[in-house]
Amino acid sequence: MSIDWHYPRHDLTERVIEAFDKRVSNTLTLFAPRRMGKTEFVLHDLIPAAEKRGFVPVYASFWDNRDDPTSSLLHAINAALAQRSWWKRATNRIAGAQLKVKAGADGVEAGMSVTASQPVAPTPSSLDELRDQFAELLQRHDRILLCLDEAQHLATSQAFENLVFFLRTLLDRNFNKIYVMYTGSSRDGLRKLFSRRKAALFQSSSQIELPDLGAGFVEHMRNCFKQATGREFSYSEGQRAFALLHYVPREFRSVIEKMILTGADDILNEAAVANDDQLEDSGYPILWKSLKAIDQGLLIWIASGNAALYQDPCKEFLADRLGVDSVETHTIQNAINRLRGEYLSLVSHGTYEFEDARFRDWVVMHCEE
Ligand SMILES: Nc1ncnc2c1ncn2[C@@H]1O[C@H](COP(=O)(O)OP(=O)(O)O)[C@@H](O)[C@H]1O
Ligand SMILES: [Mg+2]
Repeated sequence: MSIDWHYPRHDLTERVIEAFDKRVSNTLTLFAPRRMGKTEFVLHDLIPAAEKRGFVPVYASFWDNRDDPTSSLLHAINAALAQRSWWKRATNRIAGAQLKVKAGADGVEAGMSVTASQPVAPTPSSLDELRDQFAELLQRHDRILLCLDEAQHLATSQAFENLVFFLRTLLDRNFNKIYVMYTGSSRDGLRKLFSRRKAALFQSSSQIELPDLGAGFVEHMRNCFKQATGREFSYSEGQRAFALLHYVPREFRSVIEKMILTGADDILNEAAVANDDQLEDSGYPILWKSLKAIDQGLLIWIASGNAALYQDPCKEFLADRLGVDSVETHTIQNAINRLRGEYLSLVSHGTYEFEDARFRDWVVMHCEE
């Protein structure tokens, strides 16, 4: 008997489908940091449930091919049109992507791009093709659920502007037929996409949070582990281990997988080890090296709990690090623009926070002077 490791998020699924069904909203945005279960929710909860209610799903992840979101979208729509078990293909692709990440010699995190490759703008013919494919799908079906995963990525390059514009026009013209679920790992990146003057894609989108998984998830994993091994860990130890792993489901699953493979049974110990390993294998050192010196300086400044980025203490700190006489305000502004959306998020006027709390911890630990 195969074990179903997926822990269903019934409440959230119902809430989203109801909102679409009753037309409370036809555009929703789901935010949560990386590895918290957004993609899992969309692929394993939302889409199967939506299909049962007559929606035709289209799923595209803009992190599949970071340089070329147009072709990700084209793949997605072609898969939906081909109606060949698109769901299986989508989930296979996800599984493949995770394997690649795990096997990567440098251990670079999936969510962090360190290579500076060229973003590809959509060509007129690829936009024509997209338009035709959507037209065909719209002709065949009344309710399309368009899931755009890691949507904030569309705001990371000027090259994607025409694709955003295309999407906006498509959605405006077909608002009664296309329901959109945006998901994103960067609050700031999503906001950027929202507020674009030329192509304000999200104008009417309501934001929802992905709730933290809790007791039900731990209990589900406990049962799966028991089925898989005949061994057990106590519920309270499971809870404490999950807390130790910052309630990140992916980390919890990895710990359990390791326990199955190695025969270890002290989940608390395994979680503590995983926590240390995670920091070590995070790819942060490589990522760090890929950043400009001024960007590094700003990250250290912010990670150490400082604000007031344009004032003298910060400027002096940066100048000192860079070994120059002074640093101009616009140089800091440019650095912030590079870091926003990818590493930093604006939380309130002039105050920034790390998108990835672990990266902040790493910066604090490794760059203390
Ligand atoms: N509801 C869930 N049930 C079981 N495992 C989950 C669940 N949500 C997340 N996970 C685990 O966490 C991993 C990361 O989830 P994912 O959806 O890829 O995160 P995100 O898209 O937010 O970065 C999954 O591959 C899975 O192992
Ligand atoms: Mg994801």
